[in-house]
Amino acid sequence: MPDQSAVFLVGAGPGDPGLLTLRARALLDEADVIVYDRLVSEEIMALVPKGTARISVGKQPNCHPVPQDEINTLLVRLARAGRKVVRLKGGDPYLFGRGSEEARYLHANGVRFEVIPGVSSASGCSAAAGFPLTHRGLASSVRYITGHCREDTDLDLDWRGLADPDTTLVVYMGMANMTQIAVRLIANGLPETTPAAAISNGTRHDQRRVISTLGEIADTSAAAQLESPVLFIIGRVIELASELGFASGGGVFNVPTKETSLA
Ligand SMILES: C[S@@+](CC[C@H](N)C(=O)[O-])C[C@H]1O[C@@H](n2cnc3c(N)ncnc32)[C@H](O)[C@@H]1O
Repeated sequence: MPDQSAVFLVGAGPGDPGLLTLRARALLDEADVIVYDRLVSEEIMALVPKGTARISVGKQPNCHPVPQDEINTLLVRLARAGRKVVRLKGGDPYLFGRGSEEARYLHANGVRFEVIPGVSSASGCSAAAGFPLTHRGLASSVRYITGHCREDTDLDLDWRGLADPDTTLVVYMGMANMTQIAVRLIANGLPETTPAAAISNGTRHDQRRVISTLGEIADTSAAAQLESPVLFIIGRVIELASELGFASGGGVFNVPTKETSLA
């Protein structure tokens, strides 16, 4: 029998099963075991055949039930036992997903692996919320940043470079620090009237979006009690939501979006 053992680092996308790649979908059927994160939606897990083993290594914000080094050794152990392992991660495995840490560990331990990219929440959430990430005359670049930092430390980001009105900023893991992020960007010259959006459970049946301004997005999204995961997007492209978004009846949506506020 050919050696099937390998680890497939698979991007599950932001949640809508329709956004899985064909390769990801096929691997869900072929896997012996699925090792999955909290970000992987229930709808996607429902596609996994009933007999396939599943291991949850889900993490809550600020709490890591399964430490990363244990996940790494688990993957090696499963592969060495001859299993075909799908390591299923939310969005894209190589974007703020620790996929590359796992890949390095697998490589160092002589385990075959393959990376299957996924739709990152940046593209999934912006499309589903009704605006693009770039648009001629509104944004000529996009920057993906992490809003997460270790407790008791300040976010160490290039605030001056980020405070660029021609750039769309996508903030992953920004829930806890959105006030600090907005204050720093405004202090470095980004107008507080710059449009800002928070998208919760993007592309899923329970998606919600808040559209506000940089000066108010932290308070508006806190008042809306958005559920994790939440992605923040800042930039003039969000102006297009009133034209292209669900609220205006235009655009193509894969899920209805519950509007919380539209500036
Ligand atoms: C650890 S990062 C993983 C990012 C993932 N690898 C990706 O490419 O989207 C987790 C963050 O991604 C964002 N996120 C992922 N899926 C999301 C979704 N469906 N809706 C909103 N935000 C999402 C949130 O900011 C969340 O805190």
